[in-house]
Amino acid sequence: MELSQRVSSLKGSVTLALAAAAKEMAAAGRDVINMAVGEPDFDAPRLAREAAIAAVESGAVKYTPAAGLNSLRQTVARHLQGSRGVPYEAGNVVICHSAKHALSHALLALVNPGDEVLLLNPAWSSYSSQVKLVGGVPVQVEPLADGTCAPDFEALRAAISGATKGIMFNSPSNPSGYVWSRREVEELAAICVEHDLWMISDEIYGRLVFDGAEHVSPASVSEAMRARTILVDGASKVFAMTGYRMGYLAASPDLARTVGNLQSQVSGCPNYISQRAFEACLNEEPEEVEGMIATFDRRRRIIVEGLERLGLKAPQPKGAFYAFPDLSDRFDERGSAGFCADLLEAEALATVPGEAFGAPRHIRLSYALGEEQLVEALARLERFLASRP
Ligand SMILES: Cc1ncc(COP(=O)(O)O)c(C=O)c1O
Repeated sequence: MELSQRVSSLKGSVTLALAAAAKEMAAAGRDVINMAVGEPDFDAPRLAREAAIAAVESGAVKYTPAAGLNSLRQTVARHLQGSRGVPYEAGNVVICHSAKHALSHALLALVNPGDEVLLLNPAWSSYSSQVKLVGGVPVQVEPLADGTCAPDFEALRAAISGATKGIMFNSPSNPSGYVWSRREVEELAAICVEHDLWMISDEIYGRLVFDGAEHVSPASVSEAMRARTILVDGASKVFAMTGYRMGYLAASPDLARTVGNLQSQVSGCPNYISQRAFEACLNEEPEEVEGMIATFDRRRRIIVEGLERLGLKAPQPKGAFYAFPDLSDRFDERGSAGFCADLLEAEALATVPGEAFGAPRHIRLSYALGEEQLVEALARLERFLASRP
């Protein structure tokens, strides 16, 4: 029996597979440190848990409108006005089953077969598969070659063709932790307007910025840019609500209506309980959030200092919760995948090969772990490096 061409070349998420392998090793009794997972290790905020329980207890867990509860769409619009300075209204917003789902909706709504979509390397592993799934052609744009993972605007301009439909943008970046400056976002926006491109702006790590870095949404740059931006965010990272599966997109009213229709046919409304929990956290900042962000910052310093002590080259992560050292001089012919496989086997330290992000010289370390585990992880990495020729 043949499967559709659309899915036959599709591979599962590398990061989810590695995280699962690490969990299996741990279940089999090995003392695994899992730096593969892109998931905060905190519990969901008290407000989220209470709102979810209240929703269940009400008994009225029913369908909502396909684009989400009107009150939540309004709350998200208000939240975006405050956090991004963009005058959105409820009609701009669609509540989705996750940020991942919002991204795939956006691509489905925009991309025709053969359309090219630019991915700014290093880029989150799912973008390329999602673009291919809707018949688009992912075009990888390399960053500057200086190891900072900063954008190379010349390369970006050179990658634009008559078939380019849009750009997948992600700041703060998973995997590099790079945060685009206002000037860089403005330059990117100018290119989008000049070439009439869509911008899918994945801002899921927008609150997680450090060292005084500022998160700038492309939608905030100008009205012209707002009209062509699909802003995506969700509850997973900032509220540690990964299992609630809550995300959203904000776009022009036309596009939002289209995505609402799409969702009504594909999956129906998002989960009612999760919508209530997310709404509670957006209406009143949970008391845990500031503490979580400060904790991530402390962990970031531990990792950055640890990698420096080991003499490893890595871009300075100013956002998200990943470090992305360049270890290419320690790879054998199997590249970053072989290195990560050996590291897992020898030291029970799970990491993700950079090739999953279009950056085969690097490996990704998630620092969403306790401080003691981070110190132990660095010791294991040091021992492993010392054991290799
Ligand atoms: C860059 C990026 N975008 C989107 C997501 C997906 O978030 P969600 O849990 O809402 O699907 C992730 C999760 O790892 C991510 O790293």
